[in-house]
Amino acid sequence: MPKQLNALKMSKKMAQAAISLSLLTGTVAAVLPANVAFAETQPEADTPLDKQNLKPLSVQSLEALENGVKLNLGDYQGFIRLFSEDMAKISVVKNGEAEFISPGIAKKDWKTPDFKTTETDQEYTLSTNEITVKINKSPFGVKFLDKQGNVINEDAAQGVGYENGKPYAFKKTDATENFYGFGEQSGGLNKRGKSLGMWNTDAYSYNKNTKYLYTSIPFFIGLKDKKAYGIFFDNTYRSYYEMASEKDDYYYFYANGGTLTYYFINGPEIGDVIDRYTELTGKSETPPMWSLGFHQSKWGYTPEELVNVAKTYREKKIPLDTMHFDIDYMDGYRVFTWNDQYKQALKTLKDDGFHAITINDPAVKQDENYRMYQEGSQNNYWAKNPDGSTFIGEVWPGKSAFPNFLKSDVRNWWSNNLGTLLNEGVDGIWNDMNEPAVFDGPFHTMPLDIVFEDDNGEKKTHEEYHNLYGHHETEATYNGFLKNKPNTRPFVLTRDMYAGTQRYAALWTGDNVSNWEHLQMSIPMNANVGLSGVPFVGNDIGGFAKSPGNVPTPELFARWIEVGAFLPFARDHYDNSAKSGLGSGQEPWEFGKEVEDISRKYISMRYELMPYLYNQFKESAKNGQPVQQPLVYQFQDDAKTYNIEDQFMFGDSMMLAPVVKEGQTSREVYLPAGETWVDYWTGEAYEGNQSITVNAELGTLPIFVKNNSIIPRQEVEQSTGEKKLENLILDTYLTDKASYSFYEDDAATLDYKQGEYNITDFHVDKKGSSIEFTQDKKTQNYTSDIKSYTLKLHNAEEPKKVQAADDKYAQAGSAAELTSLKSGYFFDSAEKVLYVKIPVNENHKVKIQ
Ligand code: GLC
Repeated sequence: MPKQLNALKMSKKMAQAAISLSLLTGTVAAVLPANVAFAETQPEADTPLDKQNLKPLSVQSLEALENGVKLNLGDYQGFIRLFSEDMAKISVVKNGEAEFISPGIAKKDWKTPDFKTTETDQEYTLSTNEITVKINKSPFGVKFLDKQGNVINEDAAQGVGYENGKPYAFKKTDATENFYGFGEQSGGLNKRGKSLGMWNTDAYSYNKNTKYLYTSIPFFIGLKDKKAYGIFFDNTYRSYYEMASEKDDYYYFYANGGTLTYYFINGPEIGDVIDRYTELTGKSETPPMWSLGFHQSKWGYTPEELVNVAKTYREKKIPLDTMHFDIDYMDGYRVFTWNDQYKQALKTLKDDGFHAITINDPAVKQDENYRMYQEGSQNNYWAKNPDGSTFIGEVWPGKSAFPNFLKSDVRNWWSNNLGTLLNEGVDGIWNDMNEPAVFDGPFHTMPLDIVFEDDNGEKKTHEEYHNLYGHHETEATYNGFLKNKPNTRPFVLTRDMYAGTQRYAALWTGDNVSNWEHLQMSIPMNANVGLSGVPFVGNDIGGFAKSPGNVPTPELFARWIEVGAFLPFARDHYDNSAKSGLGSGQEPWEFGKEVEDISRKYISMRYELMPYLYNQFKESAKNGQPVQQPLVYQFQDDAKTYNIEDQFMFGDSMMLAPVVKEGQTSREVYLPAGETWVDYWTGEAYEGNQSITVNAELGTLPIFVKNNSIIPRQEVEQSTGEKKLENLILDTYLTDKASYSFYEDDAATLDYKQGEYNITDFHVDKKGSSIEFTQDKKTQNYTSDIKSYTLKLHNAEEPKKVQAADDKYAQAGSAAELTSLKSGYFFDSAEKVLYVKIPVNENHKVKIQ
């Protein structure tokens, strides 16, 4: 290790001790330069391709396959296989080597689509109904065309192959092409011009320039001429993406080892690409509703604090579902053990109706008297040094062994052990440190030559397995639910991912920092995670890490809550540096009354929108779409959205334009073309394709709703499931017609997989001067509590009558009176809102005239 880096290398624990010490002595800057903690955790220097050493390949002969073609490329073999009409797998491997399939792949059996082939001296083509793959023979290169004959993606002159063992692919691009996805990345939304890397890294206190973060999702979306395609580079080694960072007309990706294996996924919609990518790597599961509520966490809560903080949420009427138990709950940081006082706190919280999540780290303390260590050692469950001895590294418990999750026995052992948490009443598991982080390892992880043996006795090095370590741990954790609580929906939160981990877990973006840069960055970061097939994502609200100058001010926290209340995963979590005097508590009431009120307002709004949010997650489970969406996702025909990263869609119909800059009290909002947008607070409507300036004092989050949309809502509750959902509110913004397909199930068990759910389609149509409401009960296999709907029409006029067949609805004197009626209506003339209460079994059209 270079001397300089050695000097920088300081474990997180030591860094924190240094902060406390320096606060006493007043030498913070000297002891801990701002970038130390981050520099320590970045991997060793990148290994660029030697461009002089690229050797173009050419096709010497070829052989048709049942689903594609096999190419003789001299020392290599190429396989181009059609998985569907819109997807092709491209592999180039050494002669004799098998094609590669990583554990990221969920669907292995594909029905070969109908396709045609043609061949000339120069070219071989494969065409489905949707795409054509043209293979140039010499030099070897592929080109993908859509069914109109447009070239969607094409190899560049440098071609594809291996440079000194490193698989690479060069692609043509031009200045009009933009790139998105790549999982969790720092920096902005559009990755054109960027150099990106993937090597799962415990990037404590990262910043907007940090290259290596916690996850590796080697998938990206190219958008050119308003058409999108995706590339999934299925390679688990450390990989690199030069996205037109060197020149405008090419980009390339490569890895430190492994094979050249990638999937080309056709669009043309971004949503199509994600749907197909997540058909390949798996969709996220429908989460339990409670996990969509608000979460509170701190590293360092005492058992009393855990209980009291939760109680304070209730007293202050700020909704909360879940308390997190950080590493403090264990006996000496030994995984799958309890400190009794925390067990008692868990019981109290559960009795009080809260949910609980416990952290779980992979490393097992090296302690001869500890059951997990004994079992792991007896059964040969550990990652090994090259000489066959157990690899031991420092993490929170001190010297520890690391489970070899590549082995299914080890994963099963881990799943079984989860009973020690789940059977005590824990509802969710939070997998941390699973890059894996090793405090005293080189570059904060294991040496690259550590060995993992698979079920067949084959050995993989850490260099190959690293980016999959957390994936397998998370799979084991997910299966721990199925084993220990068979009909309960799992909830797993993880810090580390590979492509496909969305099948098992939600992601939080690790140890962010309490500053404005992080609040700003969280929006494009989550957007790209969402575009990479992972809808359930969130950042520590208020910021996790503290350092001098990086502590949340009331203003920062309030603005963070305005964004945070709408994160797919919404958790306030912070580190224990409060103990050392850096910052105080980070619960919403710690910043004064104004911030407490703002927190209550927006967290309550999240709970009101729970039916909408839940439905949005259901959509993600169906088609992989993000919940927090960058504007480009819905508006790829509007080029003005391509770089917008301080606005986002919260689901299909609501656009948020938060203030993420200090001192700002108004902001410009871009309204995408093709829609009319209604200001959520004022009701004013604006045509799209323009920018407007709106007021955004502290406490005001600018929100715009797409006109002609329905947003299902409920009354606020203090935790999900506190009250039965008996009246569903249908917030409707209408000038023409709107519809919504509403999904409902028990929100907690897996019974929906047996068909126990309801789908009801709502239609609200304006016909001349009247408006008609219909409900169309599609699937009704779940016993719902819903007894009525309240159609809430915004910007409405007072009706003369409201009627369903012969049944004339009564006019209520107030909104409150309406709630006591079975059916009826109330017009709020001040707000211009019409409320119509409709029984759930109303079989007729409701006509508003
Ligand atoms: C890691 C996690 C953080 C957690 C801490 C202690 O830094 O990212 O969320 O609080 O470890 O367990």
